Amino acid sequence: MPNLNPEVTKFLSHQPLPMYIGGRWTAAATAAAFETRDPGTGAVLARVAAGEAADVDAAVAAAQVAFQKSGWATLPANDRAVILHRLADLITRHQAILAEIESLDVGKPRGQAAAFDVPHAAQTFRYYADLAVHTRRREPIALSGFEARTVRLPYGVCGFIFPWNFPFLLVGWGVAPALAAGNTVVIKPAEDTPLSTLYFAKLAEEAGIPPGVVNVVTGFGDTAGAALARHPGLKRMSFTGSPEVGRLIAEACGRNLVPVKLELGGKGAAVIFQDVDVAVVAEALAAAVTLNAGQVCCTATRWLVHEDIRDEFVDKVTATLGAMKIGYGANPATNLGPVVSAKQRARVLGYLDKGVQAGAKVLLAGGPAAVPGYEHGYYVKPALLTGDPGNLCAREEIFGPVAYLMTFNDEALAVELVNRSAYGLANSVWSRDLDRANRVAEKLVAGNGWINAHNLFTHGLPYGGCNLSGCGGGVLGPETLADYLRNQTVARPLA
Ligand code: NAI
Ligand code: MG
Repeated sequence: MPNLNPEVTKFLSHQPLPMYIGGRWTAAATAAAFETRDPGTGAVLARVAAGEAADVDAAVAAAQVAFQKSGWATLPANDRAVILHRLADLITRHQAILAEIESLDVGKPRGQAAAFDVPHAAQTFRYYADLAVHTRRREPIALSGFEARTVRLPYGVCGFIFPWNFPFLLVGWGVAPALAAGNTVVIKPAEDTPLSTLYFAKLAEEAGIPPGVVNVVTGFGDTAGAALARHPGLKRMSFTGSPEVGRLIAEACGRNLVPVKLELGGKGAAVIFQDVDVAVVAEALAAAVTLNAGQVCCTATRWLVHEDIRDEFVDKVTATLGAMKIGYGANPATNLGPVVSAKQRARVLGYLDKGVQAGAKVLLAGGPAAVPGYEHGYYVKPALLTGDPGNLCAREEIFGPVAYLMTFNDEALAVELVNRSAYGLANSVWSRDLDRANRVAEKLVAGNGWINAHNLFTHGLPYGGCNLSGCGGGVLGPETLADYLRNQTVARPLA
């Protein structure tokens, strides 16, 4: 392991790392543990408590008690906001430590975690804390013959299952609105990347969030995750990850009539018209498809390029992708780290093989990348394929630094090609003609349509997907706070 911040060394030293249930740091009921690895070296980073159904039961019970008795649910919004701002301050103060932990566990460049993932999560807590302060909890209803009002109350215990691509940032997107509304939460982080979520719990404790309001159960998906999803004590459930697991979660929640929010994958397109500055767009899309080693659900992986600029675009984008600095996350020169696991690397390489077998042409060859000194890390070179829109690499989510290029000569054809996707998360349109860009952006079926940019994440700009990309409302918008408040009407007939 490289030289670590002493605080990170200390955090990793109490192995197996305990879970956080009801305000106590605890081993799994079975005393079992699992390993999380550093994808940059392949080495074990830490052993972590492997929670199962009994631990989930304990966490949900603690969250129920905290909802009833800790006062969190009934605090005035301002008082909760004070604590959530304190939590955001602590995240900011521990930014370097959190970025180091995130970079070690996920493989992402440390500088990116420090500049984006961690501050963005802090800002999510601030955004929802402030929004909650300005959200009226009692709204009179104007009716003849009645005195009536709507009262907006938290639901109770909310479950969260998160993936491994942005573990810390997604905890913020998920739990900040739930907590700001006055709910209590049980979080199951991904088994590949549990560390920053445990550190988050430590900061939540330090911020003064009452015991049992935030609970973290670490463990595997088919044990801890499944036990949480089917728990009858939940009032709401939220899942981010693959559509396959999303279906299982929705089924389990359906049986208990627990509303579920699903944030699933994507196969985002970028439609590039002939009037753009090709060099600028090539640079932006190369950055988008390699962000977090391509493990970004909304990123642009289908590039639809107008045929007039196709050759120039391919020259420029392959030059940029070919010059990416692939390396260890802690190395400041690195702009493309490893993918998260050996399993994910096998998935990405498998897609490249199958895509080529099915007829895709290679514009830039991907494959395993050799990084001197890091021979056991999960490094992958960026790849660019082209060919038929029906190729599996043009249809399925690969979740690696791989793009698929297609051409068009007509706006309607571009729209039709984009909308063939089963997903519906995010697309972008690139043109100097803003009338055209706006027109096309509205025709592309997805939760998000971006113009002359890709991967826009801004607090107050709702983010979510339709079709295979998700349901149940998105995140990051004001509506997300409303998703965690139930409406209750109180009415009296006027004599
Ligand atoms: P996954 O969907 O299996 O994992 C996400 C989370 O779900 C993890 O916390 C995992 O422990 C949990 N989980 C797994 N099985 C579960 C079950 N039966 N019940 C409850 N929870 C369960 O994702 P995986 O296998 O790691 O990645 C596979 C593919 O999924 C990726 O290649 C990518 O295409 C997609 N994916 C999409 C993400 C997104 O942000 N939309 C994030 C991660 C993966
Ligand atoms: Mg890891």
